[in-house]
Amino acid sequence: MKSFAIAAALIGGALADQGAWAQCGGIGWTGGTKCVSGYSCVKSNDYYSQCLPGANTLTTSTKAVTTSGPAPTGGAGAAGKLRWLGVSESVAEFGSGTYPGTYGKDFYFPDSSTIQTLIQQGYNIFRVAFAMERIVQGSVGGALNTAYLTNLTTTINAITNAGAYAVLDPHNFGRFNGAIITSTSDFQSFWNKLATQFKSNSKVIFDTNNEYHDMDQTLVLNLNQAAINGIRAAGATSQYIFVEGNSYTGAWTWNTTNTNLAALTDPQNKIVYEMHQYLDSDGSGTSATCVSANIGVQRIVGATQWLKANGKQGVLGEFAGGANSVCQTAVTGLLDHLVQNSDVWTGALWWAAGPWWGNYIYSFEPPSGTGYSYYNSLLKTYAP
Ligand SMILES: *[C@@H]1O[C@H](CO)[C@@H](O)[C@H](O)[C@H]1NC(C)=O
Ligand SMILES: *[C@@H]1O[C@H](CO)[C@@H](O)[C@H](O)[C@H]1NC(C)=O
Repeated sequence: MKSFAIAAALIGGALADQGAWAQCGGIGWTGGTKCVSGYSCVKSNDYYSQCLPGANTLTTSTKAVTTSGPAPTGGAGAAGKLRWLGVSESVAEFGSGTYPGTYGKDFYFPDSSTIQTLIQQGYNIFRVAFAMERIVQGSVGGALNTAYLTNLTTTINAITNAGAYAVLDPHNFGRFNGAIITSTSDFQSFWNKLATQFKSNSKVIFDTNNEYHDMDQTLVLNLNQAAINGIRAAGATSQYIFVEGNSYTGAWTWNTTNTNLAALTDPQNKIVYEMHQYLDSDGSGTSATCVSANIGVQRIVGATQWLKANGKQGVLGEFAGGANSVCQTAVTGLLDHLVQNSDVWTGALWWAAGPWWGNYIYSFEPPSGTGYSYYNSLLKTYAP
């Protein structure tokens, strides 16, 4: 784990070099544009450049921009901000294959106090993973399991009562007890029952399923549509619905794999296409090494084009990078790209926080998770 000491910034001349994490550029900025030793000025968006650590080789410095170009357009994105920035909360789905499993041993629930810490840092969306096998009794279309649902609801309410959005994430890969879910009517019934529980909470977001993969493409379309239909039929009409695609809902393969999902319909017109993107060589999110400093943008630019071409909204439901400067530049580029395209990108969620991640390479669990320690100062500058 790396710690960032604040370097003393004392030099002669009119402007001292900007200190660690300080602003160093952006439209309207009149202060210094040079960072102290060991830091360099990295553009976050047109309005904000920041001194980021260890980056003497990363001289993507932006000078203070004083031209008066046209004001940015795009409604919510006008200030160059995303609607949502947050974290996946992962622990209630742990103990995969051990169902129902034992509370406190196989699975647990997110820590409300560390979620509050993250909310205080500015994060406003939390995607809460859970196991379908635990929340229903016996089968996809079975009755809900009250005990697990109650505990999940406690977590969800802790998030939404604090003003943030909570995403219900059945972390099932389109499967139940390991078998691909093929009954769209059972899936619709599942979502109908679950949405009924949350229909009066407008800060809840329904995520149809985590990372469909190796499934018939039409089935993925039909399961997503069944979920939408079940949710709306429950009377949950105010909430956003996140739909996911095949191939682990990867942004980098979206434009060749999931194009049929453009046909999804929602009477409330609140569908958001959730894509995931990691920056390691196989895109699996299992290595702390990123392919290159540009890989963030490279892997999502095709998805951006798809969203624009189809008039859709997207969210990066999972992303992460290792605690090193190459990944940091790649993550910065990725987030800048989302901000620059906030007409179609609504936000992003880091993978992952949760009390059981230990020394996991991306852990965003306060106070000392590896990802939190390294990335919080950067990520929160993108919070709405
Ligand atoms: C729910 O949480 C309580 C502790 O608050 C725990 O005793 C119980 O075992 C949990 N049940 C499930 C199914 O998660
Ligand atoms: C599809 O997406 C990939 C990854 O972002 C991109 O490299 C490629 O150019 C895209 N292809 C088309 C036809 O848009």
